Amino acid sequence: GLASRKTNMIGLVIPDIENSFFAQLAKNIDLMLREKGYFLILTNSDDSQENEFQLIDQLINIGVDGLLITLSNESYSDKKKTIEKLNELTVPYVLMDRNLPELACKQVYYDNVLGGYLATKMLLDAGHKNIGFIKASSEIENANDRWLGYQKAMKENKIKINEDWVATGNYRVQGGYDAATQILENQEITGVAVANDMMALGFIKKVKEQQLEIPEDISIVGYDHSEILEAMIMPLSSIIQDSDKLAEESVSLLIGEIDGSIKGNEKRVLTPEIFAGNSVKKYI
Ligand code: RIB
Repeated sequence: GLASRKTNMIGLVIPDIENSFFAQLAKNIDLMLREKGYFLILTNSDDSQENEFQLIDQLINIGVDGLLITLSNESYSDKKKTIEKLNELTVPYVLMDRNLPELACKQVYYDNVLGGYLATKMLLDAGHKNIGFIKASSEIENANDRWLGYQKAMKENKIKINEDWVATGNYRVQGGYDAATQILENQEITGVAVANDMMALGFIKKVKEQQLEIPEDISIVGYDHSEILEAMIMPLSSIIQDSDKLAEESVSLLIGEIDGSIKGNEKRVLTPEIFAGNSVKKYI
């Protein structure tokens, strides 16, 4: 019958192809699927829910055996619609790098509260107290979770967070660049944790424009440990979300669902790690 007509094609929807975290993730997925005899179709939603839904429909029309989806920022602003859409899907799929508790499906993601906590701890352990945070402005779960992690670390160290230590921007280079102005205006801030490396790049751009030095004038911790930032800057201290592991877990869950060996809506929460670069000054 129709249902058993396998094509060995898998569709991947990522939200931002310019973000090297997703580029690396896509590369690893492609390698793993190729090894298992599958062919990957890679698509980019550009963080738009409309694009995302369209891409999902097109991939299903092409006849993919399954989907790996990293939801867009926008899909979290209209969760109801997202859940409805995904519940209607007629092919196996795995939510990757995204947590959506209201949805019953297979999900693999890193612990973002822990990540935000570890990023802040790197600054606290180096003696910083007046620590800023650049938060992603969307309603996506990992933005809030990383922010919760920051608050948890500050609370543990009995540091009261000043309202203007926290700036927001989108998860892109521009978001970090825009948020940097507010953080750099505040002379009491000695270090800042930034919600992803793309934003960290934008932040660093602004720092350079103001002729400031990292870490002499301001310390910074990123998130994602993108290879490009490691090579280009300092290297940048960051939080590692190993894309190899994320790819492996997601692919094995998806293939398991396709061949019927893994049933149920398993959730796998992975543990992030720290990368201690050179962008945090000892502050004693
Ligand atoms: O989509 C934004 C972020 O979510 C990425 O930079 C990465 O950190 C992912 O988990």
